[in-house]
Amino acid sequence: MRKIAAGNWKMHGSRLQLDHIKALAERHKEAACDIIICPPAAFVSLARDYAGPLEIGAQDCHSEEKGAYTGDISAQMLAELGATHVIVGHSERRAGHGESNATVCAKARAAQKAGLIPIICIGETLEERKAGAAQHVIKEQLDDSLPEASDSTPFVVAYEPVWAIGTGMVPRLEEIDEIHQLCRSELRRSHPMLADETPLLYGGSVKGSNAAEIFSVADVDGALVGGASLKAEDFSPIIEALEQS
Ligand code: 13P
Repeated sequence: MRKIAAGNWKMHGSRLQLDHIKALAERHKEAACDIIICPPAAFVSLARDYAGPLEIGAQDCHSEEKGAYTGDISAQMLAELGATHVIVGHSERRAGHGESNATVCAKARAAQKAGLIPIICIGETLEERKAGAAQHVIKEQLDDSLPEASDSTPFVVAYEPVWAIGTGMVPRLEEIDEIHQLCRSELRRSHPMLADETPLLYGGSVKGSNAAEIFSVADVDGALVGGASLKAEDFSPIIEALEQS
């Protein structure tokens, strides 16, 4: 399986910032991993023009193909703009937009139907971890957010503990290992055809300085990076660490 370095720009960036995509495309022409940049939807098309061998993803899509959904964007529209991937179920959408596992699952299916690869995010809150419920929450999110096993269309899973996002706090490597192993074994049970080919990304305060040790964990197949993906000089060392892992 090709490993993945994905950057989630969230609601950051501008036309000028797209120069960072150009710089990454030049620096990582023949990368040994897939590099996916997910800018705000408004910039997907322009970003595609700059991205060369890099792939472009979006950060969300609607679960319906079309309709009276003011302000929303369909997976098909994103595909037409040149996106190949779309993040669904990010904790900022689950918490800020009330997205349930069922909504996330419907979005993932819509993405697949439009030919996009969904990057499906899961992760426990600090309260859930402190209560010893992390494994239970992850299992439930996997059970209810992933598309049906009967469909052999690929997807990506990103484990992003909510408390590690944008905080500088990173779980211990044993904790990352435990959840990634759990994800892999759950996938083997629920999606036997895809399980070993499904990339499992870690996300939450990944930086150049901690990337290599995170990538040394057995079932970590890449990262979903927020803040450190905004500038080429910050994202490049993460890509290089992944290539060397
Ligand atoms: P940070 O890398 O800024 O912690 O964000 C992680 C994230 O939410 C990526 O989707």
